[in-house]
Amino acid sequence: MNVLVAGGAGYIGSHTVKRLKEAGHSPVIYDNLTRGHREVIDILKVPSIVGDLNDKPKLIDALRKYKIDTVMHFAAYAYVGESVEHPLMYYHNNVGTTIGVLEAMKEAGVERFVFSSTCATYGNPDRVPITEDEKKAPVSPYGRSKLMVEQILADAQVGNRKFKFAALRYFNASGCALDGSLGEDHEPETHLIPVILQAILGVRPGITVFGTDYPTPDGTNVRDYIHVDDLADAHIQAMERLKDAEPIYCNLGTGRGFSVKEIIVTAEKVAGKKVPVSYGARRAGDAVALWADPSRAKKILGWEAKHRDPEGIIRSAWNWFSKHPRGYAG
Ligand SMILES: NC(=O)c1ccc[n+]([C@@H]2O[C@H](COP(=O)([O-])OP(=O)(O)OC[C@H]3O[C@@H](n4cnc5c(N)ncnc54)[C@H](O)[C@@H]3O)[C@@H](O)[C@H]2O)c1
Repeated sequence: MNVLVAGGAGYIGSHTVKRLKEAGHSPVIYDNLTRGHREVIDILKVPSIVGDLNDKPKLIDALRKYKIDTVMHFAAYAYVGESVEHPLMYYHNNVGTTIGVLEAMKEAGVERFVFSSTCATYGNPDRVPITEDEKKAPVSPYGRSKLMVEQILADAQVGNRKFKFAALRYFNASGCALDGSLGEDHEPETHLIPVILQAILGVRPGITVFGTDYPTPDGTNVRDYIHVDDLADAHIQAMERLKDAEPIYCNLGTGRGFSVKEIIVTAEKVAGKKVPVSYGARRAGDAVALWADPSRAKKILGWEAKHRDPEGIIRSAWNWFSKHPRGYAG
């Protein structure tokens, strides 16, 4: 299929472009590079448009020129803390821009949409593992912006029964391409594994663990770390299963949770070096423990995570970070 990958120069989008190519599809990157990387475009060697998704004529041109069948929509702002400080910026880019993308698709006759949603739509769940039926009570503008888009998609689908979509709720995306060609490079970087590895590499002075008194076995937060290639594969499987009038909502996780301390110990083992750690107070808004019940994704998409242990995931990240301590730029 011909797939427009909105946000394809970013972390998860770029890995998905690679997997789409490998699976015989024809991806086209569309990215404004505000948070993505030109290096990714050079590495992936697929047709690429540097432009903002709010430039509707440009987007419609791209959809028509490349005879796009499916839009995979990764483009968004994705920092919880930033969303609290700049909520309007988040609603504008995560919700407003997405409405424009859906309008452009309608105008160009594109009917398939795969959306990057998040476990942040659940907020603090009543129980783990989290199923898709868990209450949706996001605790940040970021999480709310993603839930709003899910609601808009459901309404768009009622208005147009030909419109097909999947909302994929990722847990903690992590790891890098196994062949070392692509990596994770956010500015600022807030994700645990890159921050630990960059501290080990001396790019950062150390890491701070926020909260050691949580009701978890070792007192630190527990999260579900899902390899970025597994996420990419789930998008392809979702795209191939989209049907009229049957929205897909799936959690994408491994179904296993690991604590911050467990991730630190594993990263130190992989790198063969210690990381300087300081311990701070709990951070407002951090849920105690989040991990997925991924059984619906297995049933509906025929997908399950291949990378199930953090050591393998961290090894793939170390492979890239040890050669790119400062990301694509160095
Ligand atoms: N990283 C995670 O752990 C995680 C977890 C859950 C959900 N998600 C979601 O997955 C998606 C991808 O996350 P990521 O970590 O790859 O982020 P990223 O910042 O690396 O990639 C997003 C890309 O979108 C582009 N972009 C943003 N706004 C744009 C616009 N208006 N026009 C054109 N391009 C635009 C950016 O330049 C960037 O390349 C996001 O929607 C995020 O909310 C990520």
